[in-house]
Amino acid sequence: MNTTTIIVGCQWGDEGKGKVVDLLSRNFDIIVRYQGGANAGHTVEIGNKKYVLHLIPSGILWEHTICVIGNGVVVDPIVLLEEMNMLREHGINIDGRIFISDKAHVIMPYHKVLDSLAEQGENKIGTTGRGIGPCYVDKAARKGIKFSDLFNPDIFSSKVKRNIEEKNDIIAKTDCNKILYADSLIAEFSKLAPELQSLCIDSVVYLNTELQKGRRVLLEGAQGALLDVDHGTYPYVTSSSPTSGGACTGSGIPPTAIREVIGILKAYTTRVGEGPFPTELFDEDGQMLRKIGNEFGATTGRPRRCGWFDLPLIRYTAMLNGLTQIALTKIDILDKFESIKVCTSYDVDGRELKYFPSDLEVVKRAKPIYTTLPGWQEDTSSCSTFDELPENARNYILWLEKHIEVPITFVSIGARRDQVIQRAPKQE
Ligand code: IMP
Ligand code: MG
Repeated sequence: MNTTTIIVGCQWGDEGKGKVVDLLSRNFDIIVRYQGGANAGHTVEIGNKKYVLHLIPSGILWEHTICVIGNGVVVDPIVLLEEMNMLREHGINIDGRIFISDKAHVIMPYHKVLDSLAEQGENKIGTTGRGIGPCYVDKAARKGIKFSDLFNPDIFSSKVKRNIEEKNDIIAKTDCNKILYADSLIAEFSKLAPELQSLCIDSVVYLNTELQKGRRVLLEGAQGALLDVDHGTYPYVTSSSPTSGGACTGSGIPPTAIREVIGILKAYTTRVGEGPFPTELFDEDGQMLRKIGNEFGATTGRPRRCGWFDLPLIRYTAMLNGLTQIALTKIDILDKFESIKVCTSYDVDGRELKYFPSDLEVVKRAKPIYTTLPGWQEDTSSCSTFDELPENARNYILWLEKHIEVPITFVSIGARRDQVIQRAPKQE
């Protein structure tokens, strides 16, 4: 049976995709990351061990899976090799289980320099500084370096030289100390090439052939729908397409093969970096969400901005991604609240809006209209069935489900792999 499933973040990232991907991977053979790069931080806790993955799909933590980094991902080879070593040090056998698309683009040292220089200017985005934006710029400008180029010394060195010349002109205008040298860069990458070559495959042919054999494929997105370069809060977005459409271009798996789209939503809202955020809280409630929810970036350590659940935002992202199911995470973080607010619509200049506005200037003026639901003030973190949850927690979840109009099939009540309640098992 075809179970090809996409996992998408439906807010601004950090919804808990890592945990859900890990959980679902039990029932999948191949896990594919389809966009982004080492800007992502996917945290998975198993027993008393905590793993933070930036590039390799969280499905690697099961022994039976194959993990593929798709063509839509921009890969920093150094981060990838370090992450592989980290897994080996934890005793995880990764041999023959990780593949990279030979069409994936390589993040070069100059991308990181350009990322940090751009962030020093007035138009700061609050990026993770991992070189993601500049690498996608080069991809779109047809100047990028693909993994396949790394294994062809002549092509690689001529591309590096051309790029370095162009990038150094830009870098020199701001900081001469950051200028890069082509020869040392070529030498450094040539050393890595043999190990990287052993990981590279034509992932499009591989994945589609495996699908034909009946293998179950899970497509893992990074970031979230509101960080999508087309559909997010542009320009305060990442440079790729985390939404479900991006899963097809970023993996080469056609839309007709997709069976389920599972949206991951946090029981409240967070965002890192700049950009508008209608339900953001600046009061004690916001501080409580950050503290109890440990809302600090897994990649950069930055404190995350926190706010109440935003229904207009989710109406928009549920529609945009074509969600068939929802995994609601971090319900336990609300355990201590006496009452919980949910934004049901926005007031914009006296008009009521039900969907997240497409114009950033309108988003900036959107004032949340809230409904208050009673809290439960009980510990949910050891509940193992939906019925065991306190009544008000069940009511909160059912209220959200009714208004989003998509079944909430997973409820996560803690960071550990076992802290999850499955409501209506839809997997075969
Ligand atoms: P970039 O992806 O590093 O270019 O950063 C662009 C924007 O996306 C910034 O606001 C980042 O904070 C945000 N961002 C990138 N990756 C993540 C993530 O994994 N979680 C949350 N925000 C992210
Ligand atoms: Mg994260």
